[in-house]
Amino acid sequence: MGSIKIAPSILSADFSRLADEIQAVQRAGADWLHLDVMDGHYVPNITIGPIVVEWIRKATDLPLDVHLMISDPDKYVPEFIKAGANWISVHPETCKDLKTSLRRIRELGARASIAVNPDVDLDRVEGNLDDIDMILMMTVFPGFGGQAFIEEVLPKIARARDLVRKKGLPILIEADGGIKTDNISHVLRAGAEVIVSGSGIFKTPNYAETIGKMRKAAEGL
Ligand code: DX5
Ligand code: ZN
Repeated sequence: MGSIKIAPSILSADFSRLADEIQAVQRAGADWLHLDVMDGHYVPNITIGPIVVEWIRKATDLPLDVHLMISDPDKYVPEFIKAGANWISVHPETCKDLKTSLRRIRELGARASIAVNPDVDLDRVEGNLDDIDMILMMTVFPGFGGQAFIEEVLPKIARARDLVRKKGLPILIEADGGIKTDNISHVLRAGAEVIVSGSGIFKTPNYAETIGKMRKAAEGL
């Protein structure tokens, strides 16, 4: 298996020491940083906005993978990109016109991705393959860190991978939710290559050891 990307989700980090936590995962070998933006409306939880992203941008040069779980993403996309987001994922059910939202993300200079909830069908993705750089497959329902991995999503990850391969498009498959050292191999085998992990990294004592184990799981496939 080729090189995978590990994207720690800061949702499970100690926010009172956010810059330290970010630099710690960077030193530990993180490839990207996953930032979960929640508005208390599309999902029940509230997290961070563009101001925090702007400060995070100053604390690291890792690519910032911004996952928007908000009701009106179009309204905030320019601000997040200005703040330093490199990747933006949107949920189709939050966009008035998904294609327009995706194209705008790219026009503003970021990479575009569709986030697919466990109960959302891949039809939502199929007609937009030319307008995306990544598909974010949710392996939990969005809203909180530390939830249990939903195994039933694995065949859908494999279908997403096949869809992309058949068309020969350079679209990454990302998996997000409940991924830890003990189940990462299932997700990788299904075809994900960007792995988000929040509690699976930040709630472990040694980030480098954990990320090392995750990478090793990819080598073993
Ligand atoms: C869930 C978020 C995830 C979450 C992952 O709504 O999109 O990115 O932070 O956290 P863990 O890895 O703890 O499930
Ligand atoms: Zn996320």
